[in-house]
Amino acid sequence: MAQRMSGEDFNIQVGFRHRVRFTRGAFSAGNSMVAELLETRGRSKVLVFVENGLRGFFPQLEGEIQDYFSDLPGLRLTGVEWLAGGEEAKRDDGVYQAAMAAIERHHIDRHSYVVVIGGGAFLDVIGFTAATGHRGVRLVRFPTTTLSQDDSGVGVKNGINAFGKKNFIGAFAVPYAVVNDFQFLHTQPEHTRRAGLIEAVKVALVRDGNFFDWIEANVTGLRDLDESVLEEAVERSALHHARHIARGGDPFELGSSRPLDYGHWAAHKLEQLTDFELSHGEAVSVGVALDTLYAAKVGLLDQSEAERVLKVIEGLELPVWHEALELRDSKGKRRVFNGLEEFREHLGGELTVLLLKEAGVGVDVHEIEESVWEACAEELKARSFSTV
Ligand SMILES: NC(=O)c1ccc[n+]([C@@H]2O[C@H](COP(=O)([O-])OP(=O)(O)OC[C@H]3O[C@@H](n4cnc5c(N)ncnc54)[C@H](O)[C@@H]3O)[C@@H](O)[C@H]2O)c1
Ligand SMILES: [Zn+2]
Repeated sequence: MAQRMSGEDFNIQVGFRHRVRFTRGAFSAGNSMVAELLETRGRSKVLVFVENGLRGFFPQLEGEIQDYFSDLPGLRLTGVEWLAGGEEAKRDDGVYQAAMAAIERHHIDRHSYVVVIGGGAFLDVIGFTAATGHRGVRLVRFPTTTLSQDDSGVGVKNGINAFGKKNFIGAFAVPYAVVNDFQFLHTQPEHTRRAGLIEAVKVALVRDGNFFDWIEANVTGLRDLDESVLEEAVERSALHHARHIARGGDPFELGSSRPLDYGHWAAHKLEQLTDFELSHGEAVSVGVALDTLYAAKVGLLDQSEAERVLKVIEGLELPVWHEALELRDSKGKRRVFNGLEEFREHLGGELTVLLLKEAGVGVDVHEIEESVWEACAEELKARSFSTV
């Protein structure tokens, strides 16, 4: 029989608008930001999910949301659902299923809005529910932690953990809008509020040397969580992340280069090795310290530049080392080092790790020398003990 081969390639281009906003008290009377963001033609439904952890801190929130929408004739609030948040909510599909059932119960359709208010983990779960319910409904994210406001909340990733692996099940979906409401940050415990700022340090290091200079000059204000300095850092960081996603050429991460994951290969592994006792922010802090010192040791980065970075991390009272780095497998290899292979596997393709050439400028490398890295871990251990 004669061979037959035919077909055609089609380019399908879909444009997304990524609306990123900053405010204080989004649901207080007189704040028109949300009203202006949402389309009010046709009385669209709105279903709000809030993570349980916020109830005690914001007892008025549900009433404020109800009053806000009752004054907007073009939108119909169908309910406010409180569900568990935090990393626990991503461990299995329990919260995902509960949220999906609510989407079905409230008859949310593709013209409706799902609003989610919570930390990064809660945004990940509800974002995944919104991305998959009806094959995707409009999502408005309200991140409530520094980490989710200055980084993950403005991202396009959603997911839950499976097979002991973070974000194994998930979807890329551009949210309809992200509203960073600074009022939520006031109740976050101080240490985790500070830890979330590491993502601002990270994005400054890989994208904007001037922003890093500013962070360095304001490190005391940031450590003290001075309101105006904190809000400026969060806003600048969030806009850098959004800009990278919108203009960096790879919003859905199909390539191997992942500059926003600077310091993250070790961080993800440390989170796993500590069974998530170490928060994402603290783990990234250690990961950034390690990869920065490594770049200096292999001669890519000036030692004085590396020292500036370590001083900023320490100035924010964040860790440069953690005892889980000491864990070794049966062959004597540091277990954290397996994170490199897992990082490559997660991304697919060739191992690509970003290292710094200077503050604000990164370069992709494809190999990490274990012995040099070992020396960095030892040096940071000594440094960490000398400063306690
Ligand atoms: N999707 C992405 O691109 C992306 C990127 C980075 C991190 N993440 C994920 O984000 C998660 C970490 O997010 P996180 O740092 O926001 O922490 P989190 O969502 O785990 O929240 C930590 C704790 O803070 C509480 N909390 C949240 N907001 C609060 C507030 N305003 N006041 C008081 N308590 C509050 C929560 O109830 C929870 O107990 C991880 O699951 C991580 O994997 C996702
Ligand atoms: Zn991160």
